[in-house]
Order: sequence, then C-alpha cells, then structure tokens
Amino acid sequence: MKQYLIIAIAIPLIAMSFAFDQSSLNSGTQDVTRPEEVQTILNKSCMPCHSDQGSGLKSKSKLNFDKLNDLDPTKKVSKLLKIAEEIEEKKMPKSGYIKKHPEAALTTDEADLLIKWAEEEAEQIVGKK
Ligand code: HEC
Repeated sequence: MKQYLIIAIAIPLIAMSFAFDQSSLNSGTQDVTRPEEVQTILNKSCMPCHSDQGSGLKSKSKLNFDKLNDLDPTKKVSKLLKIAEEIEEKKMPKSGYIKKHPEAALTTDEADLLIKWAEEEAEQIVGKK
C-alpha cells in the first residue's frame, strides 16, 4: 500500500522537476500547512527536536518544521514522505526520548493522522502547478 503511494507520488514528482522551472516552483503557493490538530501533535512529539527551538543540531539539520517551507517543492515533498515513513516504521519520535517523555509517544490515531497529513500535503504540492 505504502509502496504504491510512494511510486504514485514519485512519478509525477520526477516529471514535475523536469517540467517546471524554479521560478514557477518557488511562487509560494505550495506551502505546507499545519492544521491545529496536527500542530498539537507535532508540538508534543516532534517539535522538541525538529524546530528552531529544538534541541540537537542533527535532528534540526535533518528536519526543521519551522523551516519546511523554505525548501524547494521537490525537497518538501520528499521530506513529507520521509515523515510519513519514519512514523509508519515507528522510528520517530525516538524511543529514547519516549522513555524520558512518555507523553511524546504517538497513539495509533495520532500516528495515522500525521501520516495522512504528510501524504496529503505531499500530494497537494505535487498536484499544484
Ligand atoms: C529526541 C529528539 C527527536 C524527536 C522527539 C523526534 N525526532 Fe525525528 N530525528 C531526530 C534525529 C536526531 C534525527 C536524525 C537521524 C537519526 O538520528 O535517526 C531525526 C530524523 C528524522 C527524520 C529523517 C529526516 C531525513 O531527511 O533523514 C524524520 C522524517 C523525522 N526525524 C521525523 C520526526 C517526526 C515526524 C517526529 C515526531 C513524530 C520526530 N521526528 C521526533 C530526533 C528526534
């Protein structure tokens, strides 16, 4: 299921990177938006590491939610898919962090919501021309 989705997104994405010049890609219409329910979950489970205020250079350099919209659309889409993947595979939030901060653990519903959000944002960016 996930595999198909990644392929379904990757193909138009590759096509897109050839078809559009950077200026039209950077027109600012493809911002990632974070509905409140998504933001609430990110705040407790991801932002402690992946934001401007986050701790840890490595986590920030890999993914900074506050800087997500500074990326070009192709990178944005690949980060979003990576987010969905890391959550799906239960790699994030890091288990060591959850041990110290049990409240950061994602419930199944929260994980599903974040995965759905990330995949839909990615599709939305790919779909926009
Ligand atoms: C305790 C700090 C911490 C928390 C909390 C955390 N992460 Fe991470 N994350 C990291 C670190 C450090 C890395 C760098 C790679 C590694 O060590 O696995 C990373 C890597 C990633 C990557 C890979 C980025 C790339 O391009 O390689 C993604 C995606 C990601 N995290 C998403 C999330 C999401 C989504 C959440 C919340 C559900 C989250 N992380 C919570 C520390 C954290």
